[in-house]
Parts: sequence; C-alpha cells; structure tokens
Amino acid sequence: MARGIVKNYWSRPVKVIAIWFFCAVTFYCLFHMALRNSNSHKPTTVSDSSISNAEQRSRIYAKMAKDLDENGAVFLKQGETSQSLSLSDLFTLENGNVTPVLKAANPPVRANVLHLSPEYSVPISEAVKSIFSPYFNKAIWFQNSSMFHFSMFHASHHIAPVPATEEEIEVEAGAVKAVAEDVCPLNIILDRVVLTSTGVLVGCWQMVSGTDPVTIRDKLRTALPRAPEKQLYDKAMLHTSFARLLGHPTKLFEEENNSSPLQIFHELVRTLNNQIRGFQATVSELWYVEELDVLALALNGRMKTRKFKLGCSKA
Ligand SMILES: *[C@@H]1O[C@H](CO)[C@@H](O)[C@H](O)[C@H]1NC(C)=O
Ligand SMILES: *[C@@H]1O[C@H](CO)[C@@H](O)[C@H](O)[C@H]1NC(C)=O
Repeated sequence: MARGIVKNYWSRPVKVIAIWFFCAVTFYCLFHMALRNSNSHKPTTVSDSSISNAEQRSRIYAKMAKDLDENGAVFLKQGETSQSLSLSDLFTLENGNVTPVLKAANPPVRANVLHLSPEYSVPISEAVKSIFSPYFNKAIWFQNSSMFHFSMFHASHHIAPVPATEEEIEVEAGAVKAVAEDVCPLNIILDRVVLTSTGVLVGCWQMVSGTDPVTIRDKLRTALPRAPEKQLYDKAMLHTSFARLLGHPTKLFEEENNSSPLQIFHELVRTLNNQIRGFQATVSELWYVEELDVLALALNGRMKTRKFKLGCSKA
C-alpha cells in the first residue's frame, strides 16, 4: 500500500530526527546544569544567571516601591503583613507603649535566614529611628537590631505547617549547616528602602559578590526535601524589615500640616534613602531558627536559634 510505503519512508528519518533531537535537548540541559553548577562554585564571577537574578530583584523592588501608591496606606485601616496576619493582631497599645502580642506557633515555624551582624544593622537602625521616631511617637515598631535578617527558606511555615520530631529537626539543622559550609559570604549593597502598603519599611539589597540568594535557596530546597513547596518570597529577593508603621504620623512640622499622610510617608522614605542608600555590608551567617511564637524574629518572641558561619572562603 502506497500509504504504508510513505509511512515507512518517513518513519525512519523521523525516528532518527526525534532521537537526535532528544539527545541534543538532553545534552543542552545537562550542559546548562553543568554551567550553573560550575558557576555556583565560582560565585564571585558575574555570570549570565547572576545578571538576570539582579534584574529579577530590581523588578521586584520596583514593584514593591509602587505598592504604597497603588494600594494606599492599608495599615492605616487594617493591614496585613506579607505573611497574611493582621497588624492589629500583632500589637497592642499598653500605657502608650506598643507591645507585640505573642502567640505560640504550633508547630513552631522553622525559618532559615541570613543574619546581618550589628556592625551593619546598628547604624541602619539608628538612621531609621532618627528619621521616623519624631513623626510616629509610639505608633511604630522597630526591628530589633540584633535580629536583622534576610528570610531565605522555610522548612515549615504557618501556611503549610510541616511538623517535625526532635530527631527530624536535628537532621534538618545538620543539612542546613552543610549548606552554610558550601556558601560564600555575601557582599551586598542597599539598593533602596521601600514602605509597603502594609506599613513595613523594607531594605532591598543587591549583590556585589558572594553566593546569590537564588543559589542559596536552591541548595536549601535540596537539603530540606520535606519543606513546603510554596515558599513565602521570590527566590531572588534579598530584603530585611527595618520597622513597621502602625498608624498615622502623629507630629507634623508647620510646613507639613497640609500634607497627606501618603506625602509624609514618601518624604520620610526619601530622606532615609538619601541617608542610607548604597550602604554596604557583608553577610556571613546562616541561621536555622525555630520560631516558637508567631513572627518571633520580627517581634522579639521566643525562638531557638542555631547559627552557622558561611564556610566558603574566597580564594
Ligand atoms: C533584641 O534581641 C536580643 C537578642 O535576642 C535580646 O537580647 C534583646 O533583649 C532584644 N531587645 C529587645 C528590646 O527586646
Ligand atoms: C497649618 O497651615 C495653615 C494654613 O496652611 C496655617 O494657617 C496654620 O497656622 C498651620 N498650623 C500650624 C500648627 O502650623
């Protein structure tokens, strides 16, 4: 049959092409994986992937900077944090003092964070306080400068809890330690400070050299196979909270008494950016933190911390 002949005539080359194509794709994928791997062992080299990670960060930060204008100051009504918790659930005013409301996290959240040492966090914290305190009196919560951190990867979080036994926690901590030993210290630069519509003042950072957050998160994902599939932050992000605004500006100077709260917020963020944008720091510790209270790292809650030095020494 003619049809059969045609079919046979085509099927051989098609098969050959298919096999060839399959091999080519496989080779291409393996080649790229190998490239990526070799890059991850030479993190100080500016590779294609690190350029796109930087671009990805810039895009996210630009979006975050627009959030306040696009959504308004939601925290003046009733805000939600990035972790979907209402701010009014997080703090109370007692005798004019803002006090965090600590709630036990059950099971504890297991967070992996990069820690910013006080050498860098204290000057930042002081700048933030000196600019924001006069305007907010008590309606502001400052991140404890001993606890400045960059959230990397959760072994368990409150949206998708992954309960673990003491033994399982030991295994996780050991795996995270091994990741830390394989990661180079991060030399970073403060790209910009933004205020989100939920009232969180966030420092957004870029890489100068060291292991990229995308690589660190990939390594943690591999090391923690039971971790929630859905994580809280974009893989490229490198951010740390400086403070949380909880209400309207309370004190205004004469020339500002016609300004809207939004204008005041923008002005304060601009002043802060003028002062600390471009600040450089080195991150050299990865922490495995069991948060026994909800948002313990942010609210000075109870936590169990294991600190691992980043082990790769630059050649
Ligand atoms: C800030 O954190 C450190 C370390 O956990 C702690 O000793 C200190 O009491 C905290 N500060 C406040 C004001 O809670
Ligand atoms: C606020 O501005 C108005 C006019 O713009 C002015 O009359 C008033 O004195 C100002 N109030 C204060 C407290 O500066």
